[in-house]
Amino acid sequence: MPTTNHDSILFPPQASTFAKDVDALYYFIHYLSIFFWVLIVVGIVYFTWRWRRGHKEGVAPSHNLPLELTWSIIPLVLVISIFLWGFKSYMHISRAPGDATDIHVTAQKWSWSFEYPNGMKAMNELHVVVDKPVRLVMTSSDVIHSFSVPSFRNKMDVIPGRYTTFWFQPTMLGEQQVYCTEFCGDGHSEMLAKIFVHTQEEYDAWVEANSTEDTTTPLPELGEKLFTSKACFTCHSVDGSAKVGPSFKGIFGHETSLTDGTKAVVDENYLRESILQPNAKVVAGFAAVMPSFQGQLTEREINGLIEYIKTLK
Ligand code: CUA
Repeated sequence: MPTTNHDSILFPPQASTFAKDVDALYYFIHYLSIFFWVLIVVGIVYFTWRWRRGHKEGVAPSHNLPLELTWSIIPLVLVISIFLWGFKSYMHISRAPGDATDIHVTAQKWSWSFEYPNGMKAMNELHVVVDKPVRLVMTSSDVIHSFSVPSFRNKMDVIPGRYTTFWFQPTMLGEQQVYCTEFCGDGHSEMLAKIFVHTQEEYDAWVEANSTEDTTTPLPELGEKLFTSKACFTCHSVDGSAKVGPSFKGIFGHETSLTDGTKAVVDENYLRESILQPNAKVVAGFAAVMPSFQGQLTEREINGLIEYIKTLK
């Protein structure tokens, strides 16, 4: 059952099974620190006054074995408790249960792609079922990124050339925000994804709707949808302003200057090549940072993007 959300001014909602435990440990350390801070400050003020210069009571005592044992043993017991509690939570967060569904995640500047066991792919959206454990097997195709979901109280670096994992069992229906928390270049702050937590029925309906190819949406409209869902907007504007990449506004049919000093006309073949092999022709004034969308788009989707760009006059 989805658990009820607690209200906290410090933290986002507790949306995974380990959120409560992580917060409890945090509050334990927090209140313990406040307790000892008050105790120590009161002690400092008292002793400063008690043994001030010119006080009338002789020399201050310099040794007291029971007192020294007390202030050593009590903090020792407390830090060992914090360690054991933290270690237990860490092991829980690090190791996914055996029945978790594996979903592959590929991070690239500046988007997240998710691949499901049935071969279905989605960009910047992860769909899961409430109360079912999910294990993300993550890697990066360029630099180090970090997959962070504050409401799940979990975060893990995503590293090129190896796999790292991140698991969670969502307890709340609805959307959760994913952030990239490793600085990875110009588009870092826009490297966002959403996790949609569904009931089993909603999830099945989503799978059904996504495993059949969209053949009815008109091409320019399909392209406009892909512009959002494939996160093209992170680097390309449609209003003429330059972002990480050139704007799409008014480019179709016009000549553009390339970094190698030559010129090219933006036609269908140019756009197709730029989507599939972005570094073949790089527009002057921009860096060759666009990832290839080879294998991530169907022929109809490529046509859709081209037709959409044509409408941006
Ligand atoms: Cu990816 Cu920051």
